[in-house]
Order: sequence, then C-alpha cells, then structure tokens
Amino acid sequence: MSNPSLLILPGDGIGPEVMAEVTRIIDWFGAKRGIAFDVSEDLVGGCAYDKHGTPLHDDTMAKALEVDAVLLGAVGGPKYDKLDFSVKPERGLLRLRKEMDLFSNLRPAQCFDALADFSSLKKDVVAGLDIMIVRELTSGVYFGEPRGIFKEGNERVGINTQRYTESEIARVARSAFELARKRNNKLCSMEKANVMESGILWRDVVTEVHEAEYSDVELTHMYADAGAMQLTRWPKQFDVIVTDNLFGDMLSDLAAMLTGSLGMLPSASLGAPTENGRPKALYEPVHGSAPDIAGQGKANPIACILSFAMALRYSFDMGDEATRVEKAVEAVLADGKRTADLLGEEGVTPVSTSEMGDAILAALDASL
Ligand code: NAD
Ligand code: IPM
Ligand code: MN
Repeated sequence: MSNPSLLILPGDGIGPEVMAEVTRIIDWFGAKRGIAFDVSEDLVGGCAYDKHGTPLHDDTMAKALEVDAVLLGAVGGPKYDKLDFSVKPERGLLRLRKEMDLFSNLRPAQCFDALADFSSLKKDVVAGLDIMIVRELTSGVYFGEPRGIFKEGNERVGINTQRYTESEIARVARSAFELARKRNNKLCSMEKANVMESGILWRDVVTEVHEAEYSDVELTHMYADAGAMQLTRWPKQFDVIVTDNLFGDMLSDLAAMLTGSLGMLPSASLGAPTENGRPKALYEPVHGSAPDIAGQGKANPIACILSFAMALRYSFDMGDEATRVEKAVEAVLADGKRTADLLGEEGVTPVSTSEMGDAILAALDASL
C-alpha cells in the first residue's frame, strides 16, 4: 500500500515559519515511528500571487483534491492589501475550502493546565476548558450572491448576502451532533433567529435533525451575541457549539483567548466521507500570517503542530499518535517553555519558534 499523501501549503508571513516545525515532526514520525507520508509542497496566498498572478494555481487546486490531506500555514499580509479583491491571498484559501467542499470546520479550544494563568480571563473560568466550535465553512455570507460593490445613484453600496439552504445547515448540524456524541453529548447551536430569516431556518433545521436523528444529544439554542457573552462569562458550560461561517470565525478567535493565545488554536476542515471512508480534509491553525511578528522567529508553532495532530486523528485513523503529539505539547508547556505570545510570568525568557519545535521533538523522543 502506498504511503498516505500530504500536500503542504505554508503560505505567507509566519505560515512557513510554523510549518517548518510541523515538517520536522512529520520527519520524526518517518524516522522514529515508521510512519512515512508522501509529502509535496506548493504555494498558496500572496506567494502564489507573486509567482503566478493568482493566489491559487489550478494545478495546486487539482493536487489538493487528490491528496489524503492538506496542511496549510497562513495567508495574507499588508503587501497584498491593495490587490484587486479577486486575487487577494485570502481568495486562495476560500477557493480551497469551497472546491474541496469542506463544510465542517472543527475549532477546538482547550486550555492546557500550564496555561490557565495566561488567558485574559480568570484562571477558574478557563482551567480545564475543552470545547469544540463547529463552524460552517462553505456557505453563508462568505459565499452568498448577490455580492459586490455597486453604484446606487450618487454613492456606492457594498453588498454581501447571508444565504443558507436546508441541506447545508443539516449536514453541518449532523457533523456537530456526531462529535457531541463522542464527547459530552451536548450541543449548543448559535445564530440570530431574532433578526435574520437565515437564522430562523438554521434553528428550525437543527431542531428537525435533532428530533429525527439525535434526540439522545442535549440540544440548546442561543443567539450568537449572547453566545459571545457566555463564552467569556462561563465557557465551561459548553461542549460542542455549531454556528455559521461568519459567527464561527469571530467566536473561534474569541475562544482562542480562553486558551492563552491565538497561537494555540488548531483546526480541521472536513468534507463528506469519500470512497475510502475518509473525508476530504484541510488542516490549518486558526491564526493568520501575523505580519507584526513575521520573519522574527517569534511565532508560536503549537497551533500548526496541533493541526497536524488533528490530521493524524481525522484523516489517518491514528488517534494514538495524535494523542502522542498533544501530550508532547502539554509536557513542554508544563516544563515552562513559552513563545513570546505566552509570556506573563516574571523572569521567563521566551523561546523561539524553532526552540519550541526542538522541545516538542525532545518530548516526542521521551514518549517512546
Ligand atoms: P493574525 O491571526 O495574523 O494576528 C493577530 C494577532 O495574533 C497578531 O498580533 C499576531 O502577532 C498574533 N498571532 C497570531 N498567530 C500567532 C502565533 N502563531 N504566534 C504568536 N502570535 C500570533 O490576524 P490579523 O493580523 O488580523 O491578520 C493578518 C493577515 O492574516 C491578514 O491578511 C488576514 O486576512 C490573514 N489571516 C489568514 C488566516 C489564514 O490563513 N487562515 C487566518 C486569519 C487571518
Ligand atoms: C480564518 C480566517 C479566514 C476566514 C480568512 C483568512 C479568509 O480569518 O480562517 O479564520 O475569514 O475564514
Ligand atoms: Mn478568522
């Protein structure tokens, strides 16, 4: 049997810096665990625009559709801010998500014990936190038509459309119910059914799927604005949250700060199961290209490393190896290693991106 295949798209800014540490871990699995991957690398985002005049070349898109999993660093940066909208770096990532049909975006927010003091919230509020945000990723206001900037009389009008079909809501709801069943059996669905018709439909469809297929799961509904408040008031009330594309984007950045840093949050973007039973999948940290620290060796590689752990779990049925990576990260944090985004304790000198990678590799060695 051939090795599982991975397409690596480091992207822009800190993307290549954090991905370099993931590549070392992939190599470690080949050398120390006999688990080899067929790895290929390509461009996405601003670097792809610089070379090809497009943020995602058709050949790269085709490769992404062929491989078992894609790992992506981050895209974007100030250098590309003035580009035409159609070729902005972010369009490359959105095309990948859309054409791979990755409708279910899993964004786990877990607070490691060693970091319970690092959240901007009180320790009691975040210690032991383990929640999963399921963000719908291929529809909603990110993709709805009509959209654009138009002339209306003497002024311009900017239009985006929030649009959801029943089947789009039902499929992401099912993926969230399935996850809830494997966790603490609780799902909270967030929308704004009080002001948006798409929110009314969202609530109806989630309720219908619940009654027909998942009545064993405890389902609650919350308006997304109240959900944001509850996530900061007492986040441990939640287990799995399911929400739309835009609310999910914002609520997951908010949840990142419950864990201490945006540099900690991984994600898995999954499609429907393919012929081999596994979903099409793309794994990426929740954070962006962090232009303010790019090129300085300061970036926290943990979100990207934990995204690779999610790939081991969700694309390759290697849950034990995923846990091995997660435990190695936990051990390194317990040992007091901190990249600059995690500083707060007096007298702690930050480690660089590659020093954090060194420490995680050493912890992986120690796990053998
Ligand atoms: P960002 O996530 O890049 O950065 C926000 C803040 O968090 C910055 O202060 C940054 O230094 C810090 N940060 C982020 N990741 C970090 C890490 N791993 N280690 C340490 N600190 C980290 O968000 P932004 O500044 O709003 O966006 C910058 C660019 O990234 C934009 O072009 C945006 O569109 C893009 N972006 C891309 C993705 C992606 O590729 N998936 C996600 C979000 C933003
Ligand atoms: C994310 C990012 C992206 C989004 C951008 C870069 C397209 O913020 O993955 O959270 O808005 O989905
Ligand atoms: Mn985002």
